[in-house]
Amino acid sequence: MQFKIIQKTPLYKAFSELGKRIFLPDGIFYWSGRAKKEAELIGTIGSAFGYEKDFIDGGSSEWVPCYLKDIKRYTNLSIKEIVPYASIAGLPEIRETWKQWIIKKSEYNERTESEKLSRLERFMTTPSITAGVTNGIFLCCSLFLNPGEYIICPNKRWGNYDNIIVKNIGAKIKSFEFFKDGKFNNESLKDAIDEVSNVQDKIIILLNLPNNPTGYIPTITEANEFINLLRESQTLEKPIVVLVDDAYEPYIFGDDVIDKSIFYNLHQLDENIIPIKLDGITKELLLYGGRIGFVTIGLKPSWVSNDEELEMLKNEIINKLEGINRSSISNCNHFYQAITQKIFEENSMDEILETRNKVKTLLKKRYERINAELAKINNPNISVDPNSGGFFLFVNLNPQKIKASEFADHLLKRYKVGVIPIEKLNDNINGIRIAYCSIDIEKIPEFIKRIQLALQDF
Ligand SMILES: Cc1ncc(COP(=O)(O)O)c(C=O)c1O
Repeated sequence: MQFKIIQKTPLYKAFSELGKRIFLPDGIFYWSGRAKKEAELIGTIGSAFGYEKDFIDGGSSEWVPCYLKDIKRYTNLSIKEIVPYASIAGLPEIRETWKQWIIKKSEYNERTESEKLSRLERFMTTPSITAGVTNGIFLCCSLFLNPGEYIICPNKRWGNYDNIIVKNIGAKIKSFEFFKDGKFNNESLKDAIDEVSNVQDKIIILLNLPNNPTGYIPTITEANEFINLLRESQTLEKPIVVLVDDAYEPYIFGDDVIDKSIFYNLHQLDENIIPIKLDGITKELLLYGGRIGFVTIGLKPSWVSNDEELEMLKNEIINKLEGINRSSISNCNHFYQAITQKIFEENSMDEILETRNKVKTLLKKRYERINAELAKINNPNISVDPNSGGFFLFVNLNPQKIKASEFADHLLKRYKVGVIPIEKLNDNINGIRIAYCSIDIEKIPEFIKRIQLALQDF
């Protein structure tokens, strides 16, 4: 494949050496595809096939992938739906379904927001499937970061980002202070952007909203300020890529915050602020072990001059994503892709939302209860970060009085309460993450009472 169109885009400029180098060569898939259409006798497929009756007692005369008979005891899905390899970027039908799901989640109204809707539909790649959101984060970070280069993240972030970016890829994280006076700290982000732009030709930002560990979601004003900052940063004349980790996308409980992923706002911008959506079935469809994630790249109308170029661009991008998949995980779990597709085939999207709403309501009640209980604590040594959704919240502890890890240890030993301490004093963090998503609402008052008692011991 030639990469004629992509090479002219700011997306390409932002690529790492790997991003520039990687592609999926024609190889086996090219010849298998041709054989399917052109050959009478096919010897291209590298998985065992046979007449079912030749390897299963009582089997049919159908030519199927060979399998062990016990497999059938554990699923109603057909053998063809679970045994073969899935395509490298994922099963075409679930990729298309997820694209429609992303459109649905935009909540753009066909009648009143038809322009936004058609822009969204046309100017995004069909999602490429990864082994969970984690793998999508790794894949995208590899696509954009050379070892030693910077990515900008809030200081309070999912700890695995550090494993992926620093330990695995060898890149660096430029932390910005997430909050100032209980609000998103745009100033600190601006400083980080300025610093990074002094040393590299691209700005890569990784954001996760609702956030782990804080539960933060921006208010509409905060989101607008953030977007304006990115727009103003266009004067730097460097591509800005925003990786939007939407792992907890549906779990928005607060009233005054943005009601959908910030991906959608960024996608509508004409400037070279390139949003990449990372989502998955993990929390969204409550299928943690399914390991199915999606990478979807937002494109800009100014990058192409006609529909033909747009299609070529999408193919070139997908080829690169396939190249990364093929050279790392090859392809993703077929069984869970098939299950996901069945869920969407057998239910309307509204029905899926309705079913999930039961869980969302359950979590929202816990969110309200835990915040109400925490608000009753009158202790100058703690403060709770702004939180409006997701699975967690974060309680800051005064580092002069209480070390987070000692507090968590004490809480566990004396009060039999488990929380995750995060203690990164260089990054101004000393506190505990509470995963209220997994605490029964009836136990929340006791949970917080014990934290209050433990605080008095310091
Ligand atoms: C912010 C964030 N992103 C991504 C993930 C991982 O998602 P997945 O299990 O799909 O890899 C998590 C899970 O804890 C998370 O907290």
